[in-house]
Amino acid sequence: MKATTKKDVSLAAQSNYGRRRQSEIYVGGVSGQSAGVPLDLVELESRAREVMSREAYAYVAGGAGVESTILENREGFERWRIVPRMLNDVSSRDTSIELFGQRLPAPFLLAPIGVLEMAHEQADLAVARACAAEGVPMIFSNQASVSMEECAAQMDTSPRWFQLYWSASNDLVESFVARAEASGCQAIVVTLDTTMLGWRVRDLDLAYLPFLRGKGIAQYTSDPVFRMLLKAQGGDELSSERKINLNTLKVLFELAEHYPDGFLKNLTSGEPLSAVRKFIGIYSRPSLTWDDLAFLRERTKLPILLKGILHPDDGRKAVDAGMDGIVVSNHGGRQVDGAIASIDALPTVVEAADGNIPVLFDSGIRTGADAFKALALGARAVCLGRPYVYGLAVGGQKGVENVIQNFKADFDLTMGLAGCRSVAEITRGALVRRSA
Ligand SMILES: Cc1cc2nc3c(=O)[nH]c(=O)nc-3n(C[C@H](O)[C@H](O)[C@H](O)COP(=O)(O)O)c2cc1C
Repeated sequence: MKATTKKDVSLAAQSNYGRRRQSEIYVGGVSGQSAGVPLDLVELESRAREVMSREAYAYVAGGAGVESTILENREGFERWRIVPRMLNDVSSRDTSIELFGQRLPAPFLLAPIGVLEMAHEQADLAVARACAAEGVPMIFSNQASVSMEECAAQMDTSPRWFQLYWSASNDLVESFVARAEASGCQAIVVTLDTTMLGWRVRDLDLAYLPFLRGKGIAQYTSDPVFRMLLKAQGGDELSSERKINLNTLKVLFELAEHYPDGFLKNLTSGEPLSAVRKFIGIYSRPSLTWDDLAFLRERTKLPILLKGILHPDDGRKAVDAGMDGIVVSNHGGRQVDGAIASIDALPTVVEAADGNIPVLFDSGIRTGADAFKALALGARAVCLGRPYVYGLAVGGQKGVENVIQNFKADFDLTMGLAGCRSVAEITRGALVRRSA
């Protein structure tokens, strides 16, 4: 991986990263400097909650139903314990991995997270800059607040992927993928678990869905095919007759502010409202089947990963369908309440993939130890989710950088203290299952 202009993210610079980050914090403390955003993730979340609107915090923190899957994702990790090994000369460690022909400084990426403008006004741009500064791949969300082209422009040659929600329009799918290729994305992650939104009680209680306010639809409003569909067919998928009152006017103003063409033009054209309606009509395709994947396979040479796999049979089908990777994930507990903990699904999916394609992992990753456990159970890399959104809310770009730095350092130290000098040395033998 190439170094960015901002910071040395070369592999050599990653060696002993954990100890250097520790020193930076402790030595900084001597001259009265703070470590940045809180390292304690409970404290970080509670600070984020203070600065976010009620709706924004509910959207990020919330899950489906009684949120038992969110809880289970964390408990799943606690059921595995690390058994450290001694006297292995861990003075120098290599946290790098190879993924799709590219060397990454550490075995993690930032998960695709939509509507980041709810956390911070610089949204995806701040995250893109932070990822570039730290050399960590960003997965652009299909529901981003900023278009992939604008984010890519912040990243120089730093790695990025694109996450796709399969639209009802195949022309739009094709356009998104072509744009991702042109934006230098190195893989396409197709999220399968969100053919419909889960029953998210916190958002329902507030009767708040950001997309209806024009938030998180930048990939669509910046897309030539979407704009063409809008012109040709209008946005009448949801022709709801609503009474105009102060609240609806406020929403119309919000929409006009978000749309690309300029506030006044937007107010008079009514296009932003049409765009939201169009988006609602075509953002997903619940009828999607395994056969549809051939369409994508034929249209891109980029590696395709399927995100949301939890059953080993689906893992095997992914291999049979010619996919290049799997992301074991339950979407951070936002889709199926009562779903299996993502970490409990991991070993069976890894076994099903049988070394044919890499298996990545997310849902519940909070610490270096979590990443270590997932890797020991066969994940090639992990994706960090909510913690970076809280970092963004509290500290913007710098906050995201701090979260990445702390996670990287924590992982490096955990790996070394467990007796491993490289990611390859993290094996199933490093873990035991906690007895009940
Ligand atoms: C606020 C929020 C928005 C998300 N948006 C997307 C998205 O646009 N696309 C996607 O594939 N996953 C999305 N996810 C799921 C994440 O990619 C990831 O699977 C999840 O955050 C992992 O759970 P964790 O953050 O609790 O570790 C979102 C998650 C959150 C919390």
